Amino acid sequence: MNLEKIDINPSNIPRHIALIMDGNGRWAKQRGEHRLFGHTKGVDAVREVLKAAKSFGVEYLTLYAFSTENWNRPQQEVDGLMSLLVDSITNELPELQKQGVKLQVIGDFKGLPETCQVSLSEGMESTKHNTEINLVLALNYSAKWEITQCVREISLKVAKNEMIIDDITPELISLHLTTKDIPDPELLIRTSGEHRISNFLLWQLAYAEFYFTETHWPDFGKEELRAAIISYQSRERRFGMVSE
Ligand code: IPE
Ligand code: IPE
Ligand code: MG
Repeated sequence: MNLEKIDINPSNIPRHIALIMDGNGRWAKQRGEHRLFGHTKGVDAVREVLKAAKSFGVEYLTLYAFSTENWNRPQQEVDGLMSLLVDSITNELPELQKQGVKLQVIGDFKGLPETCQVSLSEGMESTKHNTEINLVLALNYSAKWEITQCVREISLKVAKNEMIIDDITPELISLHLTTKDIPDPELLIRTSGEHRISNFLLWQLAYAEFYFTETHWPDFGKEELRAAIISYQSRERRFGMVSE
């Protein structure tokens, strides 16, 4: 299908797009640069994609920025990523305000370095009344961590007789995940050619459409996002039913 000839249908925009931003390291390596250079360029792509998502009418953009497993990277890279996070929040805050972006974080917040917690809290607090688009950063996030937390929380309520086992429904489980205020994503995008989910939003992606591209994250922009949405719009979401 030639996607260039088709335009976006404004009446069928995914409300929520989840994105696995992959390939910063490979992008940098191809240019003979250090991996952190790739991550820095990745922030430019975030800025552009956020603006594009807003212009298409997307309501929630969830970005996988740092997984629980990413702590196992070389210390220098981990430190670099954490300071890039703090710098980016500080530098981008005026633009986030101007664009009406509400910042949210999912993941094990308390496990992030203190400096990150402080700047993220400031960012969330100062953007909490914005309504143009929700930017959800998945930081120190993994779906298995999230589901484990959820099981513990519900079990505790049952143990304290605050609920009974029959109260446990899919809806109740959703309300005990870090995404409790956020609708499930209709579309998942992963850049850089890997076809895996890497412990991201396992529960919430149950019926999402998946879109994979070879493009490394720093090269991903508005036109790629448009192509992903057009591809999404060409699909028939059957939810277990039949076409007719
Ligand atoms: C994604 O790019 C960014 C993070 C995981 C933080 P990578 O750093 O995974 O880049 P590759 O996959 O090594 O190319
Ligand atoms: C997934 O990318 C995590 C983020 C984008 C933050 P990784 O590059 O860490 O995933 P794997 O290791 O290739 O599965
Ligand atoms: Mg990677």
